[in-house]
Amino acid sequence: MKIAIAGGTGTVGRLVVDEAHARGHEAVVLTRSNGVDLTTGAGAESALAGVEVVIDVLNLTTMNKDEAVSFYETTTRNLLAAEALAGVAQHVALSIVGIDTSPSGYYEGKLAQERAVKAGGVPWTILRATQFHEFAPQMFATLRRGPVMPIPVMATQPVAAREVAGMLVDLAEAAAQYSTVQLAGPAPEKLVDMVRSYGRATGQKVLYVPLRLPGASMVAMRDGTLLPSGEYRTGRESYAQWLERVTTRSA
Ligand SMILES: NC(=O)c1ccc[n+]([C@@H]2O[C@H](COP(=O)([O-])OP(=O)(O)OC[C@H]3O[C@@H](n4cnc5c(N)ncnc54)[C@H](OP(=O)(O)O)[C@@H]3O)[C@@H](O)[C@H]2O)c1
Repeated sequence: MKIAIAGGTGTVGRLVVDEAHARGHEAVVLTRSNGVDLTTGAGAESALAGVEVVIDVLNLTTMNKDEAVSFYETTTRNLLAAEALAGVAQHVALSIVGIDTSPSGYYEGKLAQERAVKAGGVPWTILRATQFHEFAPQMFATLRRGPVMPIPVMATQPVAAREVAGMLVDLAEAAAQYSTVQLAGPAPEKLVDMVRSYGRATGQKVLYVPLRLPGASMVAMRDGTLLPSGEYRTGRESYAQWLERVTTRSA
């Protein structure tokens, strides 16, 4: 099968490409670094020639609502328009568990993306995943201020990005479901503990300062609104197993 991965050089995107190749599929990467800009649509139509399924794992790092909504609405519409012209059979989009109950500018963008997918006319499936285990190193890099690291108190049930990639390819191989499926990791974790163990495992001496910040989105994060509820699939690799795998490999 020929699968296009929008965002195929990102944290989860490159794992989707690896998984698609491992299963014998042809993978086409849609990113600006590969000549396709989905905020304008430039290059998308020709890149989609012969593609049967598109997996969208695009990302913009922002907490600003207008930026996030504009990015996800525009890239989704451009992608779906090119998919319709190319006769793509299914659009699989990656979203996030709990975004409708946890107010944040970025999550407003993800909700706008989901609405655009459902209204877009190309057969679709949405996967909502919890935070990746890789969220801990991302937070480590973003929040560190010299020897001090302020970390918002947050409850999550993280999952390995590799398992998210595997499920995205599973969905791409099946018929469009016109519904949203959820994937979470095997156990709830506290973000502070995840980041602290990442720092310890990578030999970084940092003073961790848990923050209980005001605001609806911060309260929702610590009250567990990002934890999975209802029906969801469960990944197998725990945060501790993931940490051992990635730190042993890079040692
Ligand atoms: N991080 C988490 O814990 C988590 C949890 C659940 C779901 N998700 C979702 O997973 C998705 C991927 O996140 P990630 O952290 O893996 O992303 P990432 O590492 O930030 O990668 C973003 C990708 O998007 C591409 N991209 C950005 N702007 C583009 C544009 N205008 N045109 C074409 N390509 C563009 C980038 O390539 P170029 O820069 O070369 O264009 C890159 O390949 C997001 O939708 C996010 O909401 C994340």
